[in-house]
Amino acid sequence: MSAEHGKELFMATCAHCHTIEKNGENKFGPALWGVFGRIAGLAPNYQYSKAHKESGIVWDEKNLNKYLKHPDKFVHGTKKKIQGVKDKQDRKDLIEFIKITTNN
Ligand code: HEC
Repeated sequence: MSAEHGKELFMATCAHCHTIEKNGENKFGPALWGVFGRIAGLAPNYQYSKAHKESGIVWDEKNLNKYLKHPDKFVHGTKKKIQGVKDKQDRKDLIEFIKITTNN
C-alpha cells in the first residue's frame, strides 16, 4: 500500500472535483477533508443529492472501496456520474491517502 501513490491518483483523477486539505472548498464535489470515518453527506455548505444525503453510509475502508469502484451503483441516484476506479490496488492506495489526510 502506498499513500504517496494514492495522492498522485487523487491529484490526477479526483482533484478537479474535490479538495482534500483542511478548510478546502467545495467544488463540483464536496470538500473531502475529514471524510474518513464520517457519515456521508456532511461537508459544510455542500448541496448533496437527496440519494447521497440520505444514504447513511459511513466512510470506512469497506464502503469507500465499494463506492470508488462503482459510485452510482453504490449510491443509486447520486449526481456523481463517473466511471469507478477499476484497479483494486489503486483503490487501496487512494483510501490510504484519504485516511492519512483525514488524520492530519
Ligand atoms: C466529476 C466530478 C467528480 C470526480 C472526478 C470525483 N468525484 Fe467524488 N463526488 C462528486 C460528487 C458530485 C459527490 C457528491 C455526490 C452526491 O451528492 O450525489 C462526490 C462525493 C464523494 C465522496 C463522499 C463525500 C461525502 O461527504 O459523503 C467521496 C468520499 C468522494 N466523492 C471521493 C472521490 C474520490 C476519491 C475521487 C477520485 C477517485 C472522486 N471522488 C472523483 C464528484 C466527483
